Amino acid sequence: MKKVIYDQYGDINVLTLADVPVPTLDKNTLLVRVKAASINPLDWKIWHGDMKIMTGFSFPRSVGIDFAGIVEEVGSNIHNFSKGDEVLGIADIFKGGALAEYVVVKEEAITHKPATISFEQAAALPVVGSSAIQIFDKLAPLKAGMEVLINGATGGIGTIAAQLAKRQGAHVTAVVGKNGIDLANELGSDVVINYEQENVLEQEKQYDVILDFANKFPFDKAEEIMKPESVYVSTLPSPTALVSSFVHDLFSKKKREILNLSPSQAYLKQIADYAADGLTIVVSATYPIDAFKQAYTEAAKGGVLGKAVITIP
Ligand SMILES: NC(=O)c1ccc[n+]([C@@H]2O[C@H](COP(=O)([O-])OP(=O)(O)OC[C@H]3O[C@@H](n4cnc5c(N)ncnc54)[C@H](OP(=O)(O)O)[C@@H]3O)[C@@H](O)[C@H]2O)c1
Repeated sequence: MKKVIYDQYGDINVLTLADVPVPTLDKNTLLVRVKAASINPLDWKIWHGDMKIMTGFSFPRSVGIDFAGIVEEVGSNIHNFSKGDEVLGIADIFKGGALAEYVVVKEEAITHKPATISFEQAAALPVVGSSAIQIFDKLAPLKAGMEVLINGATGGIGTIAAQLAKRQGAHVTAVVGKNGIDLANELGSDVVINYEQENVLEQEKQYDVILDFANKFPFDKAEEIMKPESVYVSTLPSPTALVSSFVHDLFSKKKREILNLSPSQAYLKQIADYAADGLTIVVSATYPIDAFKQAYTEAAKGGVLGKAVITIP
C-alpha cells in the first residue's frame, strides 16, 4: 500500500510516498481503508523535529493524524464497528500514519461518519473539532452573552470554534486575513476584523475569552484587552509555558490556559453530531495523495480557509 514516511527529521524533502505492507491488526484494533486525510500544522511541526521530546528518534516515521475512511476488518474484541462502516478518526498524534491507504487504530480513535458529509469533510474534523470542544469543555466554558475574541477565526480550529461559540450564545469577534472576511461573516461572527488593517490589541474593547489560534498574541499583550475575570487560551504547549501558566493562574483572575489536546471518542462523537446537525465544514483545497508535497507546501504558506485535505483513491 502507499504510505507517506520519512527516515530523518527535516524539511518536506525528507518525506516519501513509499510502498509498504498493509498493517496487520490484533483483536483490539481495526483496519480502516483511508479515503481522505486532512492537513494539520502539527504534521510539519513533527517531521521538522520540533517535538522530538515527544516523538523520539526511531525511524521510519509516519505522517498524518486526521482521517476518514471505511472499516475493512475488525479485531475479535471489537463490537461497535463492522466491516463497511464509514468512520472518521485520529491516528496516534505523535506516531501519525493517517496519510496512507490503510491505518490500524483502536476503537476509541474513531467514530461513525454522518451519512450527510463527505469523506473529505469528515477528515477535516477530528483534530480541530476535538480541539474546539476541549477548549470550551475544559479551558474556557462559555455562557450566553460572553464576548469571545478568536484570533485566526477562519483556520482549522477557528472555523469550528466560531460556530460552537455562536451556538452557545456568545458574541464572537473574528480576527482574520482579508481572504477570510466573507467566510467569517458567513459563519455568523458578530464582528470581523482584518488583521492586516487593524491591531485588535490596541482596541478599547475587552473580552471574556480570547482564543489565539494564530500564535500571534503573547499573553502579556492580550491581557490588556481581557476583562478582570476572563480566560486567554493559546495552542502552543511547552513545559515552560505550562508551568508559567499554572503559576500565573494561582494569582490572577485573568486566566492563562494552554490547549494540550487529549483526543477522546467522546469528542469525536460530539463533533460528528455537530456535523450531522448542520455545522459548516470548510474544505478549501483537496489534493490527491501523489501531490502530498504540493499540498503541504501550499498549506504551510498560510491563507487556507478551513482545512486542506488529501484524498486517497
Ligand atoms: N496544543 C494542541 O494540542 C494543539 C492542537 C491542535 C492544533 N494546535 C495548534 O493550533 C494552531 C492553530 O491550528 P489550526 O489547525 O487552526 O491552524 P490554521 O488552520 O493554520 O489556522 C491558523 C489561522 O491563523 C491565521 N493567522 C495567521 N496570521 C495571523 C495574524 N497575524 N493574525 C490573526 N490571524 C492570523 C491564519 O489565517 P491566514 O492563513 O489567512 O493568515 C489561519 O486562519 C496551530 O499552531 C496548531 O499547531 C495545537
